[in-house]
Amino acid sequence: MDLLPVLVVHGGAGTVPRERSEQSVSGVRSAARAGYAILRGGGSSMDAVVEAVAHMEDNPSYNAGCGSVLNVKGEIEMDAIVMDGKALGSGAVSAVRNVANPVRLARLVMDKVVFYPPCGQCFAQEMGISEVPPESLVTEYSRMRWKKNLEPGANPVESQMGKMGTVGAVAVDREGNVACATSTGGMLNKMEGRVGDTPCIGSGGYADNQVGAVSTTGHGEVIMKVTLARLILFHMEQGDTKEASDMGLAYMKSRVDGLGGVVTVGPQGNWAARFSSLQMAWAAAQKDSLHYGLYAGEHFTQSIDDPH
Ligand code: GLY
Repeated sequence: MDLLPVLVVHGGAGTVPRERSEQSVSGVRSAARAGYAILRGGGSSMDAVVEAVAHMEDNPSYNAGCGSVLNVKGEIEMDAIVMDGKALGSGAVSAVRNVANPVRLARLVMDKVVFYPPCGQCFAQEMGISEVPPESLVTEYSRMRWKKNLEPGANPVESQMGKMGTVGAVAVDREGNVACATSTGGMLNKMEGRVGDTPCIGSGGYADNQVGAVSTTGHGEVIMKVTLARLILFHMEQGDTKEASDMGLAYMKSRVDGLGGVVTVGPQGNWAARFSSLQMAWAAAQKDSLHYGLYAGEHFTQSIDDPH
């Protein structure tokens, strides 16, 4: 059976507060539709993943773009990566400020830069990407969480583990090319200038036409210890996408006590959305169907053209 094309997105592994779960699930469904429209029109997997991730960056429900968590100084610094499985090309930005869509900037780095520029900000200016006012990316929710975690005795890492929201996407297009994209505001109340796993190749994502593509979410310092995306692709070289994803997540749990989540595609169009956290909003678009879920074992299906 021809399974191509396919696109899978995630809205971050963690515990989504009850009052935000509906918007988190509807956001991933809408992002999957936006990315899949590109694939259905014959577009590339790279264009599709960037579109899907930019869609979630524009949605204040997630910890990426507008809605990103604040660093210890109350400012937003964002990381993003893209990777193209055909030529193993990649682009990434770290700790960028005042940019609405870091994933589009990462794409420009991949397309235009031979050596990484010293500063994402300068590169954005050079590329004519207009700066947005910093406050346009800050939500009341992110400011409230930042303040709460400045209080004496607060533990931002623990608090973050409950409510992540890194976003990501993987896709295979009609030509069999795979791609991944991941974008994040990073960790709650992080140090200024902190760079997590997201922009690191093999941690925040990896794509190789010969094996597949992965986008990850979770605690960056832990994901980097096991290079989660590349680890899962290693397991995929010997087997199934779901099993490989579970093996990578299980290793991260047993070896460094880390929780997280991933979306994965193989070059034939087989896909997985797996997580070891309590929840991860995810959606997958393939053929005429949209699949989605939030809790482990949850899997709803509707027509891709059903707007509800
Ligand atoms: N995985 C997102 C971060 O830790 O920055």
